[in-house]
Amino acid sequence: MIQEKIFQEDVSRFFSSRRSVRKYLNTEIASEDIMSILTSGIWAPSPGNVQPWRFIIINKKNSINRLAYLITENLHSRRQTAEENNCFNNVALIRASGKYALAFKSAPLIIALVGKSYKKSPTGRLFGAFFPDKDVNTVIREEMIKCVSMAAQNMLLCINYLGLGGCALSAPIYLAGRKISEELQIGLEEELVLLISVGHYEKGQTEKRFSSRKKLENVVSWL
Ligand SMILES: Cc1cc2nc3c(=O)[nH]c(=O)nc-3n(C[C@H](O)[C@H](O)[C@H](O)COP(=O)(O)O)c2cc1C
Repeated sequence: MIQEKIFQEDVSRFFSSRRSVRKYLNTEIASEDIMSILTSGIWAPSPGNVQPWRFIIINKKNSINRLAYLITENLHSRRQTAEENNCFNNVALIRASGKYALAFKSAPLIIALVGKSYKKSPTGRLFGAFFPDKDVNTVIREEMIKCVSMAAQNMLLCINYLGLGGCALSAPIYLAGRKISEELQIGLEEELVLLISVGHYEKGQTEKRFSSRKKLENVVSWL
């Protein structure tokens, strides 16, 4: 009984100890850690086990700087346009969003999670039998995003388990997704869904930061 309680507390602490890390130490990630993170990703569930994903490892400083450049360039041109149109609220918002879009800058490793179409697989054909042509593409894309998100969460938890820090990143994709996809040679049948930055970090950095969750009673209903 006592053992069970300790186990529950450990599990709960493990999940709540995962914090988004945006500042990293200049230390390489061991290749066996990279393999563990990737392996945790491929064990995510997917409909009919279609596994509609692939992962791109970006760990050369030049490549990471190049992504940062594409985003900075985009932020710069948005800011210029907002200034020319006297949209000063937007200028402030664009400036603030830089922190979130460039949160990977000091990371030694970025994983790009790419979703793939599975229209021709048995599961894709099954969806095709249920939905008209226009909708089936939407359904297939929505399911793909769910699968990639599950792979992403597996990876983030594995990163935490390994004592590393990570952060899921959508902002770079919203700002410069097309250019980043070109840079990473992502094909037209594929979609860049998420970036995950990974790195060693100064311990204590995340514990000090306030992060909360809505109360369970506000998000759960029992039927
Ligand atoms: C789909 C998704 C996209 C996110 N995009 C960004 C992002 O672009 N930049 C960023 O700094 N954080 C991003 N985050 C991290 C969230 O801001 C973070 O998870 C949230 O504030 C809760 O904090 P915690 O992860 O430390 O618990 C993203 C998280 C998710 C799940």
